[in-house]
Amino acid sequence: MARKKVTIIGAGMTGGAMAQRLIERDIADVVLQDDPQFAGTMHHGKALDESEAAPWLGISSRITATDGWDETDNSDLVICTAGAPRKPGMSREELLNGNAAIIRAKITEAARHSPNAPIIIFANPMDAMCHVALKASGFPRERIIGQGGALDSARYRYFVAEAIGVSPKDVHGYVIGGHTDTTMVPVVSQTRVGGVPLTDLLPADKVQALVARTMRGGAEIGELYKTGSAYFGPSASTAAMAEAILLDQRRLIPCSTLHTGEYGISDVFSGTICQLGEGGIQRTFEMPLTDDEKARVIKAADATKELVKLITE
Ligand code: 2OP
Repeated sequence: MARKKVTIIGAGMTGGAMAQRLIERDIADVVLQDDPQFAGTMHHGKALDESEAAPWLGISSRITATDGWDETDNSDLVICTAGAPRKPGMSREELLNGNAAIIRAKITEAARHSPNAPIIIFANPMDAMCHVALKASGFPRERIIGQGGALDSARYRYFVAEAIGVSPKDVHGYVIGGHTDTTMVPVVSQTRVGGVPLTDLLPADKVQALVARTMRGGAEIGELYKTGSAYFGPSASTAAMAEAILLDQRRLIPCSTLHTGEYGISDVFSGTICQLGEGGIQRTFEMPLTDDEKARVIKAADATKELVKLITE
């Protein structure tokens, strides 16, 4: 069987970490694509540095870098980490048109060279950037996937685990809705810790504090880093998504997907539970929600619709 090939667009902190997480899994070769005018020779440096780790990692995955696109031909998966990160104090929404131009240019090329690949989108504001990618690629909905929910859910599960003193592995919780500080919806009503409802384990004010921290999770990291935004958490979340797609694991991971009736929402990217496997999103699942959670999910989708209207061509 031919080895799988993954193109990672953008060799910044996220792209570099993403490449590392993927090659360490030894499930695909990686092509790191970037432009010399942005990255200089950083992508070539990262590819070589990560390659030289292979003997001690005991892996066979190859990682190469390119300034162009031919080397990305017929990738099995494209992960687009390109785009400006937000600076401390900045909202994800403020990046809208700057990142839209970058995503449009990158995804047009990526799609031309890998016409069958699912594409995972990182750039913020992420749900809106998925719309840009959908249009630029001409791909069907199942092959444009936003990574926000996987990351937000990881943060939520970690915060819950810390608060209760258990392993994050045994916290089952999902964040759906939008990937912004105001539109994320951690689904408290369905959160379980070893099968026990979270609301039986912590008082309501403590639960609400975890929800609030989750919603500001990206901002909290940005304030600590001061110069940029998170990349360890995002790359881990996306590596799980990539593995599910490349190995057809059919994992259920919250991602942003173009809704076609989920929660009564249509024609907008928003987060819900997605079955990830060969070909990208194979199915979506709607979570049972309280009235309040459902109202917030609908409000999140409406906010993304409004944001998409502000994208200039
Ligand atoms: C985050 O939440 C960068 O949006 C990303 O950290």
